[in-house]
Amino acid sequence: MSQDPWLLTPGPLTTSMQTKEAMLHDWGSRDASFIEMNARVRDAVVRIADAEGTHVCVPLQGSGTFSVEAALCTLIPRDGKALILINGAYGVRMTKILDYANRSYITIETPEDTPVDLGALDETLSADKGISHVCVIHCETTSGILNPIADVASIADKHDRSLIIDSMSAFGAIPVSAKEIKFDAIMASSNKCLEGVPGMGFAVIRKTVLEKCQGNAHSLSLDLYEQWVSMEANKQWRFTPPTHVIAAFDSAITQYEASGGVTGRNKRYSNNCRILTEGMRELGFETLLPDELQAPIIVTFKMAADPAFVFETFYDNLKDEGYVIYPGKLTVAPSFRIGCIGALDDTHMNNALAVIKKTLSDMGVTSGTPAT
Ligand SMILES: Cc1ncc(COP(=O)(O)O)c(C=O)c1O
Repeated sequence: MSQDPWLLTPGPLTTSMQTKEAMLHDWGSRDASFIEMNARVRDAVVRIADAEGTHVCVPLQGSGTFSVEAALCTLIPRDGKALILINGAYGVRMTKILDYANRSYITIETPEDTPVDLGALDETLSADKGISHVCVIHCETTSGILNPIADVASIADKHDRSLIIDSMSAFGAIPVSAKEIKFDAIMASSNKCLEGVPGMGFAVIRKTVLEKCQGNAHSLSLDLYEQWVSMEANKQWRFTPPTHVIAAFDSAITQYEASGGVTGRNKRYSNNCRILTEGMRELGFETLLPDELQAPIIVTFKMAADPAFVFETFYDNLKDEGYVIYPGKLTVAPSFRIGCIGALDDTHMNNALAVIKKTLSDMGVTSGTPAT
């Protein structure tokens, strides 16, 4: 098999051969082997959240957004009110979800290169007793910024409000413990830092909260209460399960645990991030974020000012050399992003940098320095 391009993106990601090979079978959704595999995956996800005994894992077909939408609409009752902390596109997406679901919400917005505003959160929760839920993005993939979810959790807890965390691009690589951070739900998907393939997401939800969520959801297929009750009753999925995705996820989690779990994953991604950032800075590029705000997930670089730097050509040339990068998603400044996650290590990052250097030279770009 010829080598697929390496995906330096926020997902879908490069997966290991073992993960791909796990999909070379067929499973009946009622087979004992499939049911066992599904239970193993659900247990492992709860373990990764350090939430055994308090929370349950409710998996759902679809991309990550399906699980975010399902969790918001299952947990927030129709007469509830959310406070959404926004510093990028995924916070904005939560507002769109709640618009569709006809739930009321307010927002506190900070710029894309600034963490969510803890002071404003505290003040708003003091002032508005009608807010039932606080929603926050763990790593805002728009910029790659790491939000202070432990602080958000303690403020939400102080005001006795429910916390929902979208940890799509952080779960499994940035440690999170339900014993230390009080949340009612945390959502992620199979194909980000746990390195499965795309096709399913999940929410890890506090059991005592989920038990009270019957009738909240406005959508049959996105009702995580019904998904949970039904899965607990017969161990099967309500609707056709993404069997191959679950098999790949099961294999990916086995590899994850064998390589040191969250500690191992965080170490490899942090090293990838360091190599990438240092190498790009040597070429003159500037990161959007200072290192202390950067999650080791995806790095935003400001667009080079050199007129010879044309992003589309840069992208295409890198793709031809076997590396896929990602356009920027910032509203404030032209940028592009390079991911550090997926089945990639220091060799891949160093090779990618060598290819970037050669591409810039072929394009006649003398420096990656952005406009001031
Ligand atoms: C923080 C965050 N939330 C939600 C999503 C949406 O996930 P999906 O594109 O799989 O629907 C993403 C995707 O990258 C994300 O990074």
